[in-house]
Amino acid sequence: MIDHTRIANAALREKVMSAEDAATFITPDSVVGMSGFTGSGYPKAVPQALAKRMEAAHAAGDPFRIQVWTGASTGPELDGALARANGIELRLPYNSDPLCREKINRGEMEYIDMHLSQVAPMAWQGFLGTLDTAVVEVSGIHANGSLIPSSSVGNNKTWLDRASKVILEVNSWQNAALDGMHDIYYGTALPPARVPIPLIRADDRIGNSHFRCDPEKIVAIVETDSPDRNAPFDAPDDSARAIAGHLLQFFTHEVKKGRLPETLLPLQSGVGNVANAVLGGLVDGPFGNMTAFTEVLQDGMLDLLECGRLRVASATALSLSPDAAASLNARLAAFRDKVILRPQEISNHPELIRRLGCLAMNGLIEADIYGNVNSTHLMGSRIMNGIGGSGDFARNAFISIFMMPSIKKGGKISAIVPHASHVDHIMQDVQVIVTEQGLADLRGLSPKQRAKVIIENCAHPLYRPALQDYYKRALAGSYGLQTPTLLAEALSWHQRFVETGSMLP
Ligand code: COA
Repeated sequence: MIDHTRIANAALREKVMSAEDAATFITPDSVVGMSGFTGSGYPKAVPQALAKRMEAAHAAGDPFRIQVWTGASTGPELDGALARANGIELRLPYNSDPLCREKINRGEMEYIDMHLSQVAPMAWQGFLGTLDTAVVEVSGIHANGSLIPSSSVGNNKTWLDRASKVILEVNSWQNAALDGMHDIYYGTALPPARVPIPLIRADDRIGNSHFRCDPEKIVAIVETDSPDRNAPFDAPDDSARAIAGHLLQFFTHEVKKGRLPETLLPLQSGVGNVANAVLGGLVDGPFGNMTAFTEVLQDGMLDLLECGRLRVASATALSLSPDAAASLNARLAAFRDKVILRPQEISNHPELIRRLGCLAMNGLIEADIYGNVNSTHLMGSRIMNGIGGSGDFARNAFISIFMMPSIKKGGKISAIVPHASHVDHIMQDVQVIVTEQGLADLRGLSPKQRAKVIIENCAHPLYRPALQDYYKRALAGSYGLQTPTLLAEALSWHQRFVETGSMLP
């Protein structure tokens, strides 16, 4: 039920209207910055009303497409609805909506896949163009006009600052206890005015709890009462449990060696099923009093908070399955001191990740025998999701870990390949690779030493002999021997998959 008391500012209450009326402020070819990050805090009513207007325009023979900028992925009511209406000309900076993915891969939608920490600075520099309208979900409006953020922060501060028109959705499904959980830092600037960000611990608060927005720019407010919708996670399978086990052993070893404290260092855990399952493994591990400085707070991280192993989590968004989101929403007040939500340019800031010494744990599509990692493209050309924050964290982490099952699609795909068909993370940014087969600690190794460890520890037995054979022949026939490569054969496994549906010979 809509809670009409969420808008405490009398002048702004005058601007409440239907989603249909609010959507009329968005015109063809405009650039729209929407809230939303991994299925949380995205506007739910205006995009659907906009999609209807687009469909009507298209039926009348009039083109109606817009550019959509967000924090990261959103939900079916935004990306799904606009894509179905064929209304997105260009999308940035991250997407996981299946219909958008299809359109991008068919060449029907332009997609700019960006490091998430760089979106706000690039918007300020003007490289992304001029932002016409911001459509931002908030959980309430105070009497003084300040905006209470929702279940994600993403790029909202930047959209509210940069857009000439602002449409707000006030969602009373979001728990009122969200007020006070956010830390909105207003001190970022472009060089040469940039100064150090004064955050030295994951749980430091350096900003305000609310967004500010010039009320003159607010053209419409829509009241909603709709849940965030995120895809559920797969239950951890044997492979995910084995990966978690190898990682726990590794962390235990690092603590024993004195290279990590017993509380570990601030955890970062990426998107996807595998990353979520690994967090589940930490629940049963020996480490306590941990902190997280991460991008998203997923089910596994919530479990760690609940069992007390994790003391505090700093993120930019909740990224919970529907059940976990409903459960957290019902008792959010209990987590007020344990969760801090920040703008993504802060949650993913290279300066802070390096300073805090994060342990970055991200999923991948494939890694080559030298440890170059592809997080984004299937067979080199078809986008899966995007790089998201994995690059922000991998380059700057204290230890950069990538993990995945060693085979996919019933063994038709090997995640360890002779040559990555696309590279998001160069080998220097990849220090540990883990599969269910084992863990490769690549720190301090040359490319040739890395290849041996990756093939032996991480490749699946189905593919290990073929990788050993390729590597042996590369040592004999490569143009140079720093990173042995057989140019004519390097991508032959991918070509075979495209032609036959399997990488197996
Ligand atoms: N070739 C073809 N398909 C592959 C593949 C490969 N080498 N590796 C994975 N896939 C497919 C899987 O089959 C699955 O597709 P399906 O749903 O059609 O079966 C899909 O990719 C997801 O794979 P899954 O094994 O379930 O792993 P995941 O949910 O952990 O996701 C990534 C893995 C890489 C897709 C995901 O981690 C990602 O998008 N990463 C990039 C962004 C990122 O790291 N963000 C975190 C920053 S904080």
